[in-house]
Amino acid sequence: MKQNAKILLADDDALVREAVVKILDMFGHEVLAVADGREALDAADDSFDIIILDINMPDMDGFEVMERLNQRKLGVPVLFLTGAGSMEYVVRAINLGAYDFISKPIEDLDMFNVKIRRALEKRMYVLQEKAYKDNLEREVRAKTRELEEKNQLLEEYSEKLEATAVNTIVTLQVAMEEKDQYTAGHSTRVTEYSRMIGEKMGLGREELGVLDRACRLHDIGKLVIDLSCIQKAGPLNDEEWALIKKHPEVGYNILKPLDFLEREGMIVRHHHERLDGKGYPDGIGGGEIDLLTRIIIAADSYDAMTSRRSYRVNMSMEEGIAELERCVGSQFDPEVVKAFRTVLLERRDRQQQRAEFRDF
Ligand SMILES: [Fe+2]
Repeated sequence: MKQNAKILLADDDALVREAVVKILDMFGHEVLAVADGREALDAADDSFDIIILDINMPDMDGFEVMERLNQRKLGVPVLFLTGAGSMEYVVRAINLGAYDFISKPIEDLDMFNVKIRRALEKRMYVLQEKAYKDNLEREVRAKTRELEEKNQLLEEYSEKLEATAVNTIVTLQVAMEEKDQYTAGHSTRVTEYSRMIGEKMGLGREELGVLDRACRLHDIGKLVIDLSCIQKAGPLNDEEWALIKKHPEVGYNILKPLDFLEREGMIVRHHHERLDGKGYPDGIGGGEIDLLTRIIIAADSYDAMTSRRSYRVNMSMEEGIAELERCVGSQFDPEVVKAFRTVLLERRDRQQQRAEFRDF
């Protein structure tokens, strides 16, 4: 433990000052002696181990100095120099948190030395505690940062895993669609239309993400259904329809084990439902169909109408929009159709402008 203290001494009496400095010096301590309270306040900082204050000083007495020191929370023990018989002073000093008292004149050097030593021990204890706290805070901060970094890594890792899982399934679905000239590009177009509608309707980033994944995966159920029937020329018979109608539920079951695709799975399940409840597989309607599902229902139907099929010619954009509008309320959501119509027309205008520019 530290043997020698750095001490700040304030006393207006030059003789006392000199005497105390001499004694402290003899015990090996380093002393800064000042003549009044104000100087003491100016000099005081936490580089000192002990502060010794005379009580009666002109201008600012020892009590006031201590009050102000207390506000600075230096953690430096304060000892008061007191004349004999001033009990009232002692009580006041104790209330202010004085550590000890030294009576003037100093006659018992050993006792004085003991008091200084005890004050120094107290100071060392305060410093140790502070170092421990600082250290602890630093360690806690470092550990918190480390944890945050690890969490971030984990999050990135799981996002990557999730994206890989989605991409794998999408690859399978695209491969399936590409095998048939009539379905090629269907999911990509539905995804694109849905994104355009979603953005027009002001959906947030997360909602758009769910919508994007749901669209890319929406026909995944067709993967496990024998597709030869949809590839045949001519309309489907009842049996074939019954088979095809299974694909939303089959898709839902494929995605079910993937917890992070819970919402997407429900959208896949319901992408052939209708507002009037006449859709499949669950026949839900109205408020049971959420906005994202309403968007994909419209986008999916529109792409089916405007894409070529083996058994019929496809509709034009204008015819497709008219059909969507005709079925507002029964199949489609009015707000979704409104937004869809706007983005389709905007896209057509942009394409026309580009074409004119090219021709020019
Ligand atoms: Fe479908």
